[in-house]
Amino acid sequence: MSIILSLETSCDESAAALVSDERGKIELIANEIASQIEEHANWGGVVPEIASRRHLENLPILIEGVFSKSKINIQNIDAVAATVTPGLAGSLLVGSITARTIANLHQIPFLGIHHLEGHLSSIYLSKNHPKPPFLVLLVSGGHTELIKVDIKHKYQRLGRSHDDAAGEAFDKVARLLGLPYPGGPAIQKTAKSGDPKKFIFPKGRVSKPEGGFYPYDFSFSGLKTAVLRQIEKIKSENKKLPIEDIAASFEYVVAEVLVERSIKCALDEGLNSLVLVGGVAANVRLRKMMLAKASENAINIALAPMEFCTDNAAMIGAAALLRLSSKKIQSSMELGVSARWPLEKSDLLYECNPPF
Ligand code: KG4
Ligand code: ZN
Repeated sequence: MSIILSLETSCDESAAALVSDERGKIELIANEIASQIEEHANWGGVVPEIASRRHLENLPILIEGVFSKSKINIQNIDAVAATVTPGLAGSLLVGSITARTIANLHQIPFLGIHHLEGHLSSIYLSKNHPKPPFLVLLVSGGHTELIKVDIKHKYQRLGRSHDDAAGEAFDKVARLLGLPYPGGPAIQKTAKSGDPKKFIFPKGRVSKPEGGFYPYDFSFSGLKTAVLRQIEKIKSENKKLPIEDIAASFEYVVAEVLVERSIKCALDEGLNSLVLVGGVAANVRLRKMMLAKASENAINIALAPMEFCTDNAAMIGAAALLRLSSKKIQSSMELGVSARWPLEKSDLLYECNPPF
């Protein structure tokens, strides 16, 4: 059995967790998180400088917290993991340097984790998780991707957003409606009492240069503009803004487009298992619509547990355990951080000569 201390500091959540694997099953021992959302909400989005400062203050308290809330002592851990890419470089550095320092002091392996592999691994924190091959819809504040996982750690991106990520669209539309950051939970709450069919917003297709459309790609910037135009039109008519109906119609079209293209992709690829992860995967309408459409098409859906959809360190620990159990078991202490790095090349994070 291995016990891992894992850290997540890629954006606006500072988090630490202890996870273990017993007979191949991933167990969460302790999970601490300090959200900076309220502070960033004052600015309408994440302020990188504030984020890194807060990670620096929060991390020692969170690490102390996971040990004091479990019977585990720091001498009992077998490895330390931290997110090293993608994300805000200054924020990533805080987690990565902390992890490397602990690994060095205790002479244990350090594992740098790709944040998207972390999100993917959140599915292993659920009781009934599928085994590859499966298709993953990863929808967060920074990414909207359809990823085929043939075997463990072999990723093929089949679809992506060409502009805003789905979570980013939620955040931007919330701002247009005068709702707080982060927009996803605020829109979900407001949309509850709205009519999802009141406004017909566009589904955003991406054209191929040779004609036709990319079947599994997304575009959300036109949708945001359509919402803005609708708001301007209603305001110009001096009518009261039906915030609930706009929120519901927006949420509905985003969910519909994500569901339709994911199911089509799974069917075309002959995959009968579809996994939903990332912050937007916490959206209740999306979860319900995905389950309904999948059952019509005999596709099994695995939903990331609600509490592990948005950023957390438990998913980073799960990813590290899955790496530890495969051949390449640790990262070089020379591995730094990177604001961007393709998921398909995440094996390189475990090379003796790291890519960054
Ligand atoms: O995965 P995450 O915590 O961070 C990134 O890696 O980006 O995702 C954050 C995003 C934000 O854009 C937030 O608005 C969205 O996830 N989100 C939601 C919900 N909860 C969080 N979007 C829709 N519905 C939700 N319930
Ligand atoms: Zn994330």
